[in-house]
Amino acid sequence: MRTEQSKTIYLKDYRAPDYLIDETHLTFELFEDHTLVHAQLVMRRNPELSAELPVLSLDGQQLELLRITLDDRELTAADYQLSDSHLTLQPTQASFVIDSTVRIHPESNTALEGLYKSSGMFCTQCEAEGFRKITYYLDRPDVMSKFTTTVSGDKQKYPILLSNGNPIASGSEEGGRHWATWEDPFKKPAYLFALVAGDLWCVEDKFTTLSSREVTLRIYVEPENIDKVQHAMDSLKKSMKWDEEVYGREYDLDIFMIVAVNDFNMGAMENKGLNIFNSSCVLARAETATDAAHQRVEAVVAHEYFHNWSGNRVTCRDWFQLSLKEGFTVFRDAEFSADMNSRTVKRIEDVAYLRTHQFAEDAGPMAHPVRPDAYMEISNFYTLTIYEKGSEVLRMIHTLLGNQAFRKGSDLYFERHDGQAVTCDDFVKAMEDASGIDLTQFKRWYTQAGTPRLAVSEAFDATARTYTLNFTQSCPATPGQSDKLPFVIPVELGLLDARGNDLPLRLQGEAAASGTSRVLSVTEAQQSFTFVDIAEQPLPSLLRGFSAPVKLSFPYDRDQLMFLMQHDSDGFNRWEAGQQLSVQVLQELIGQQQRGEALVLDQRLVTALRSLLQDGRLDQAMVAEMLSLPGEAYLTEISEVADVEAIHGAREFARQQLAEALFEPLWQRYQANREVSKGTPYVAEAEHFARRSLQNIALSYLMLTGKPEVLAATLEQYEACDNMTERLTALAVLVNSPFEAERGKALEAFAEHFKDNALVMDQWFSVQAASTLPGGLQRVQALMQHPAFTLKNPNKVRALIGAFAGQNLVNFHLADGSGYRFLADQVITLNALNPQIASRLLAPLTRWRKYAAARQALMKAELERILASGELSADVYEVVSKSLA
Ligand code: BES
Ligand code: ZN
Repeated sequence: MRTEQSKTIYLKDYRAPDYLIDETHLTFELFEDHTLVHAQLVMRRNPELSAELPVLSLDGQQLELLRITLDDRELTAADYQLSDSHLTLQPTQASFVIDSTVRIHPESNTALEGLYKSSGMFCTQCEAEGFRKITYYLDRPDVMSKFTTTVSGDKQKYPILLSNGNPIASGSEEGGRHWATWEDPFKKPAYLFALVAGDLWCVEDKFTTLSSREVTLRIYVEPENIDKVQHAMDSLKKSMKWDEEVYGREYDLDIFMIVAVNDFNMGAMENKGLNIFNSSCVLARAETATDAAHQRVEAVVAHEYFHNWSGNRVTCRDWFQLSLKEGFTVFRDAEFSADMNSRTVKRIEDVAYLRTHQFAEDAGPMAHPVRPDAYMEISNFYTLTIYEKGSEVLRMIHTLLGNQAFRKGSDLYFERHDGQAVTCDDFVKAMEDASGIDLTQFKRWYTQAGTPRLAVSEAFDATARTYTLNFTQSCPATPGQSDKLPFVIPVELGLLDARGNDLPLRLQGEAAASGTSRVLSVTEAQQSFTFVDIAEQPLPSLLRGFSAPVKLSFPYDRDQLMFLMQHDSDGFNRWEAGQQLSVQVLQELIGQQQRGEALVLDQRLVTALRSLLQDGRLDQAMVAEMLSLPGEAYLTEISEVADVEAIHGAREFARQQLAEALFEPLWQRYQANREVSKGTPYVAEAEHFARRSLQNIALSYLMLTGKPEVLAATLEQYEACDNMTERLTALAVLVNSPFEAERGKALEAFAEHFKDNALVMDQWFSVQAASTLPGGLQRVQALMQHPAFTLKNPNKVRALIGAFAGQNLVNFHLADGSGYRFLADQVITLNALNPQIASRLLAPLTRWRKYAAARQALMKAELERILASGELSADVYEVVSKSLA
């Protein structure tokens, strides 16, 4: 909790550590009402600094110090200073050993940081600064140490005792206790430490590495979940193989373990050799997890595994460099998923997510660069900007260098920095050295916040046969940064002729045409590129594959967008043209609604979507993506002032009109796909995801017509399907339908059937939390009383309250402010229980500047009420105070 004014930490204040910890020997004695932690730290003065010995200040929070010795001499209170965050003492020698014993209380740890208990098992979460809640330590990522860990506990309650590295010894003790010792041969920072003790079962497998070493793979879960582990195991083996093939990275220990826990603040954590996962990111099988959940498991397993190199072998010097490991690893997992499934669909999903959520963050009060230069609470900086924009920055480097030079750069980075804690600059330097390309200006992507705008205009000269594109870039001010310098913006583009074919591209000054898709680097505030030998007015396809995270504008008319939807050779841009067409049409409807006019849907959207539905050759997943209208959150993000009701009304009107106009082809597509699904056992692979995605989006449109045959089909799918993807869609469709009796029956039957499966119940909560029918707030409040709900489990909080505030915009933004009051109440309660979850939950309130005056006042009042509510955690204080500033 924040005792005084919270302190800001600055990158410019970084200093190398005064002391190093060569070895760390830990012993944990686990009991029901406390845990004892003994730590032996073999330390020395940092040899890169002067010989004098400054005071040693160890981090430590919520620790009860029982005993401390310095080189075997027991210290008394006169020998050291204790505060609520540090233990300070004066070493007298350059090398010394500190031994300490502390008592901690994992059994009452609700913040889920440090050592805590979840469903009866002990587990840890140390990133970013959780290790200091376990023992006194130099809890910073540039202090890397070799760890041995002994865990002792009751043999019956905790038959499995795990830590990082390899098991080296174990034995029994009196009183029904036993112990195990683990040794990690690799130096690591404390944030990668992990411990698990519990009654767990595991699935075991083997992987043979490129150099023929055999690695044991184990996934540990609660016994009742042992039937839901195979998909994660398959994903792990695919990830290990992919990292060898694409990055030349081999696994380095004899054993790799994953443990699933039910109470976890994040998705998963890459502790060395012992990844700890939110059970939602491990468990998956047809009957209980959707296609999206299967893909999430595959991606998260890959992400955490990839960290073994991008994060663990080479780690971050300080937390300002967080994107060094997270941005890079997200880029790696995205490419992995693209290779395992559909590349274009993966890109569409990621871009839609980035533009909806990261762009909003970049335009809000918490906007910060990919490498921030200040923070109060580091937990607040695991953001969309660090992760998603960070990944886009890596993707741009990949685009600018090309695949080969990028791989050379990555090899050089790992070779040069293996075993080190480094900076984003070190990464970029390796890329520069390997490629010979100067990235000095490019590095502004790391230091300047905000989403650049890129306005494009064209000029065709028929007599000179030239076609010129003029680019103007700018970037809005963000907190603390009023003026921005031009970015390096890689713009991949092509030019289409009147039949939709790509033209050969030759820039003025080039000897000959080369290629039909090119990457131009826009580096100046204003810059023009002229193509020659252009006989007719072309249509440009700009920013193919979303080659830079910018807001691009070009004055396309709707007919041109329809043309691109049909003809662009770049799949991403076919989708993008459809989105831009939809945005234009929806914004027109929003305007009509605001002026009180009758709503009239531009029939060109109907025509465009009809031809997609009727074209049997198209990838079904692409058709499904193109049928999905831009979401309300995205429409909010691109509005100057977001009109919640008009956005919802316009979008629902368009969906209704489309459902009626396209009933025939939708029904035909639905039935054909449902027939195949009926006759095919569930497979978690791309072509099956594709079929079900089109089937399911078709069903959600069809139900808007309220026809009895659609209701019958929905009930049939709900009852007869063999997988959660079809079942949950049918349930969601019923929940949003006017068929009250069927809705109630299905919800009840679902809860009865799945009441013992927490992850499925999360989905049941989410579907209801997201229902835009009136009365949403009351429904959510009632669901909080359901026996399966608890504020102590982050998955439950996200499933119900997070889904309500983040996805159910019309109900959350009720004009009387009751949605805001509700959210603030939950934040205040959670602030005391779990600060990280509290601070993430409050993000929707921080977007108050997007709304008209009345809503702004209501939202700000709730932020002020939180601020005045008593002792705030640093997490909540930082977000609330910055969003009011
Ligand atoms: N290192 C993080 C987990 C983490 C985040 C720990 C914040 C402590 C604080 C992990 O590698 C991660 O990034 N996990 C993501 C999922 C991933 C697929 C992007 C997560 O937990 O959401
Ligand atoms: Zn990560």
